[in-house]
Amino acid sequence: MKLVRTRHELAEIVTQWHHEGETIGLVPTMGSLHEGHLTLVRALDGKATRRIVTIFVNPIQFNNPDDFQLYPRGLEADEALLAETGVVDVLYAPDETQIYPPGFCTRISVSGPDRMLCGGDRPGHFDGVATVVTKLFMQTRANIAAFGEKDFQQLCIIRRVVTDLDLPITILPVPTVREADHLALSSRNKRLTPAQREQASHLPKALMDCLAALKAGQPVTAALEHCTQTLKDAGFTVHYLDLRSEKSLGTVEKAEASARLFVAASLGDVRLIDNMPVV
Ligand code: PAJ
Repeated sequence: MKLVRTRHELAEIVTQWHHEGETIGLVPTMGSLHEGHLTLVRALDGKATRRIVTIFVNPIQFNNPDDFQLYPRGLEADEALLAETGVVDVLYAPDETQIYPPGFCTRISVSGPDRMLCGGDRPGHFDGVATVVTKLFMQTRANIAAFGEKDFQQLCIIRRVVTDLDLPITILPVPTVREADHLALSSRNKRLTPAQREQASHLPKALMDCLAALKAGQPVTAALEHCTQTLKDAGFTVHYLDLRSEKSLGTVEKAEASARLFVAASLGDVRLIDNMPVV
């Protein structure tokens, strides 16, 4: 695995790969890697002949400067973890100048799906994501890119960008990887205290109980209210808990097969998100 720090060096490598007829697979990340990220890399098996993982903590998708500063970083550990997989060809870890040259002032802005859910309390977040991901698609010239369903709204927005801008890339969705107690793996989990980590297991449990209640025929509003209260009782600040369509992300009245429960809730200053399908 080669560590690449500049877009020029990356351009040379990917140009060569395209000449050789290779298929390039991409996993964009912000580092602090865990099994969820590695699962995305493995999901490219058989779909790409070359694999690039990118690590870039993207300043323009953080609306809170403290959150950006506190975001866990550790390039050496990440590099070792990726090298161990034996299936990554390039780790691209650019600094800010490689992504945002002086005078940078272009944004990809996705209206509609960026206003709801996480877009509501994180204004500008998804424009920052859409912009950096589009740049990474261009710089890596990838044919296929894997994204986790853990960040389902992000996945929907990136699909929208690819469709709307005719980007020549296939998006591969990958189901959420969870701990034994079903907590979704996340780089932010590292910021939980041991006591908060124990509390955090109430989040997936509340979602699973809510889905069971919906399947048993409980009305949506009652099930969501009960679940919200359960989370509050467990010490969470609940930002939203919604049943929404997987396709449009619009709210749905019934627990139909194409619906998902979406939640964002904080323990102290650590914001956790999760989602689960109704089926
Ligand atoms: P990051 O949070 O590092 O996540 C990188 C990718 O890993 C995303 O596609 C995310 O959905 C996926 N992922 C994270 N936890 C996962 C889990 N438990 N199971 C499955 N997949 C998981 O998402 C970002 O970075 C950034 O917004 C980025 C797309 C890189 C743009 O800056």
